[in-house]
Amino acid sequence: MGLLFYYGDMTHQEIREKFLNFFKERGHAVVPSSSLLPDDPSVLFTTAGMQQFKKYYTGEADPIKDFGSKNTASIQKSVRTVDIEEVGDNTHATFFEMLGNFSFGGYWKKEAIQYGYDFMIKDLGISPERVVVSIFKGDHENNIPEDRESLEIWKSFGVPDDKIIFGDKEDNFWGPTGSKGPCGPTTEIYIDGVEIWNIVFNEFFCDEHKKYLPLEIKGIDTGMGLERLAVMLQGKNNVYETDLSLPVITEIRGKELYDHENNRKAERIIADHMKAAIFMISDGVLPSNSEQGYVLRRLLRRAIRYVKSLDLPDDIYKRILHVVSHDIYVGVYPELSKKQDEILEVIENERYKFSKALSNGIKEFERISSGTNVISGKDVFDLYTTFGFPVELTKELAEEKGVELDTKSFEAEMEKHKELSKAGQEKKFGGHGLILDTGELKAGNEEELKKVTRLHTATHLLHAALRKVLGEEVHQAGSDITAERLRFDFNFNRKLTDEEKKEIENLANKAVDDDLLVTMREMPYEEAVKLGALSFFKEKYPSTVKVYTVGDWDKPFSRELCGGPHVEQTGEIGRITIKKEQSVGTGIRRIRAIVE
Ligand code: ALA
Repeated sequence: MGLLFYYGDMTHQEIREKFLNFFKERGHAVVPSSSLLPDDPSVLFTTAGMQQFKKYYTGEADPIKDFGSKNTASIQKSVRTVDIEEVGDNTHATFFEMLGNFSFGGYWKKEAIQYGYDFMIKDLGISPERVVVSIFKGDHENNIPEDRESLEIWKSFGVPDDKIIFGDKEDNFWGPTGSKGPCGPTTEIYIDGVEIWNIVFNEFFCDEHKKYLPLEIKGIDTGMGLERLAVMLQGKNNVYETDLSLPVITEIRGKELYDHENNRKAERIIADHMKAAIFMISDGVLPSNSEQGYVLRRLLRRAIRYVKSLDLPDDIYKRILHVVSHDIYVGVYPELSKKQDEILEVIENERYKFSKALSNGIKEFERISSGTNVISGKDVFDLYTTFGFPVELTKELAEEKGVELDTKSFEAEMEKHKELSKAGQEKKFGGHGLILDTGELKAGNEEELKKVTRLHTATHLLHAALRKVLGEEVHQAGSDITAERLRFDFNFNRKLTDEEKKEIENLANKAVDDDLLVTMREMPYEEAVKLGALSFFKEKYPSTVKVYTVGDWDKPFSRELCGGPHVEQTGEIGRITIKKEQSVGTGIRRIRAIVE
């Protein structure tokens, strides 16, 4: 495909290299992108390059110790979903990357502006006439003065007065990300009227009460959108035409250079949302109904809906994944191609869950929206619970049809729902707090804790036994353990025979009789996978994982990635009995078992 498109003089790989080299040559340590899931619990996703460096600005961590320099540079993958409704126009996207240089007490305004200007003008060859800069005009309320220092620096580079504009706190002040953090005035570089580079002077710490406290170490934080820079350097009109996106668009169009206005919004939404989803999943997010998982679900379901509207074949997800992981980002994020199968499984799973509901849900939507101007909260809520329609999807459908949603009554329904499920939980556990709640395991007191621990190891034995009897394709689809019983879901597409059930039970009980040793070792995720540890593709794998092995190290009965807790010897478990085996959805079986 290389011949079909002309991307101008610089590919995104070349832009990356040029940027990082520029700062390396000027004493910066190059730091890899951090995960899209930040350590900071007050934000859902990583939205800027500075996020992984917050603790260096505040002095909580030492950059010399960690990077060998007070100055760093990175290219950070980021997600911002505030403008999700705008995706489809020329500039908005939810996934993007940010080129940034940072300093934690190393240099200040003069050098930061000089670097920005030199890189743009000297390295990239942008003509100075195209440059406009903005400067912070000050804020009376918080006693922060106009940024005269930056003004003088820009003037000394020959930027004329009429190319210097002044912005207020809305435009020329950054931060904090999350509820508190470093913040400060900014100066921005515009090329041809488009904001390209944001240079932040972190001289304050903004606390939870929006008070600006002076920072002891003054810091530099800059961010330049890779996609926008590519638009400029590759001579394109919008972010979907650069080499960071066009290969996906081409895949959607079926390799024909066919650009039709009617399809533009849909193909852009698919391209952007799939990219964001792929990166999120590779960082360990799974679709769910809360927080990061909900955002992922919303992106995927929105993409799926537009795939349907363009009538694209079902293998489009796989093909887009291949283009993203092998063509566009192959040398940059190698984990994408390594995790390709896992990523596809998550996408296919979500597609499967949503596809069936989608056409029925749209029919239901048509029914409840016909002959009315307002759809009731109860109806929106039912679409959500019965058909898995994110509220935003219902909103979009309503907008297209010109009807309104009663969002107030929807929220009331949601509250009621939350109260009910909370009440259900409390009733189940007698209103007492749990001493253990991993999501999978729940125990209310010490005695229950011992019981769920035995059931938990029994689950590993049954999982291993299921695979030995039914085949290696079998893997965990869910697990839930209370003091009474274990419940284990796995993928398999028919009812088990009585013989099979007996054989599974016998194998697991044989392991109990052999009183095998249960050992736990922490190791890097890659090593665990190499050792054949089963992993249930979870929310987020830390770089170091716990691996539980039952039996001989070299020829274990079972080996799984798991957080525990487990018994020390299988003899502690007791007799395992499978009480029930049933279907819980297409291709998914569930067993319930007890230990005595
Ligand atoms: N943190 C600043 C931004 O993201 C540089 O714009």
